[in-house]
Amino acid sequence: MNDQAQSLRRLVSKLEASRERQAFRTHSARVLTVSSGKGGVGKSNFTLNFALALKTLGRKVLIFDADIGMANIDVLMGVRARYNLYHLLKGERNLEEIIELGLNGLPFIAGGSGMADLFTLSESDLNYFTSQIEKISEKMDYIIFDTGAGLSKETVKFITAADECIVVTTPEPTSITDAYALIKVVHGMEQEIPFRLVVNRVASQQEARQVTDKLSLVAKRFLDMEIPMLGHIHDDPHVMQAVKKQIPFSTAFPSCAAARDIQRLAMKFLEVPQVGQKDTLTGIKGFIHRWLKHTK
Ligand SMILES: Nc1ncnc2c1ncn2[C@@H]1O[C@H](COP(=O)(O)OP(=O)(O)O)[C@@H](O)[C@H]1O
Ligand SMILES: [Mg+2]
Repeated sequence: MNDQAQSLRRLVSKLEASRERQAFRTHSARVLTVSSGKGGVGKSNFTLNFALALKTLGRKVLIFDADIGMANIDVLMGVRARYNLYHLLKGERNLEEIIELGLNGLPFIAGGSGMADLFTLSESDLNYFTSQIEKISEKMDYIIFDTGAGLSKETVKFITAADECIVVTTPEPTSITDAYALIKVVHGMEQEIPFRLVVNRVASQQEARQVTDKLSLVAKRFLDMEIPMLGHIHDDPHVMQAVKKQIPFSTAFPSCAAARDIQRLAMKFLEVPQVGQKDTLTGIKGFIHRWLKHTK
């Protein structure tokens, strides 16, 4: 644990000294989606604990709960969102007002009933929404959308609009094939979206490697694309215990296997240079641009 704290501190000071920090001041937030083919693979738990880890590493992160059917980021933190997207889209609240503060002051936007309306907005409402999002993104380093599982047109729209998609899978064959199906469909619509894989609920690092190799091989052969592994998270009973307590596992059990994995993964995420969509805008401007493109 000591070793880990030390390397964490080293990384923070390294990053703070770097030019990356400067760049963030002038750029809008990088937009990530966390998605999966199959449901229940651990997207929301990953999103929440990953965001908390990035926050500990000095990043400003906003979570956007974009799972239309089963939004539950607030439940996982044991907080109740007063407002959600609905209040923004109905003009009752502005974006700042619907951002709730969760654990450790982690900002998030609850999805809820407004989510479905987001796809049928009039042009003036859409303009209002995008101008609000643009404003907030100047203050953030990352905006992370926790999307629904599978290939609904809403989820695909979020993924194709973002800078990068983090695909969560477990070692179960059905989860892997569904992850591949998702990647294939999205790639067919926007070839430049970079994907990275998080293999959740593994028994060992070796198992995570095998899952990644399996998926990468097929993606290389049939889609001519790379799917690097961002990291793995062990199958850990503390996760379920934390869900029951409504406290994120990395907070409830900071030294459990899953919490250590998340911390390692977040550090790696910041160390690896981030690829964006080529030839296109990045950040929220790119997001809105591509969102509108797929609306037409
Ligand atoms: N690393 C893990 N180890 C053990 N159980 C896990 C792990 N990740 C997720 N789970 C279990 O899976 C359930 C679903 O996770 P959740 O994050 O809600 O999935 P999703 O958002 O993909 O539907 C959790 O409530 C927990 O019981
Ligand atoms: Mg979820």
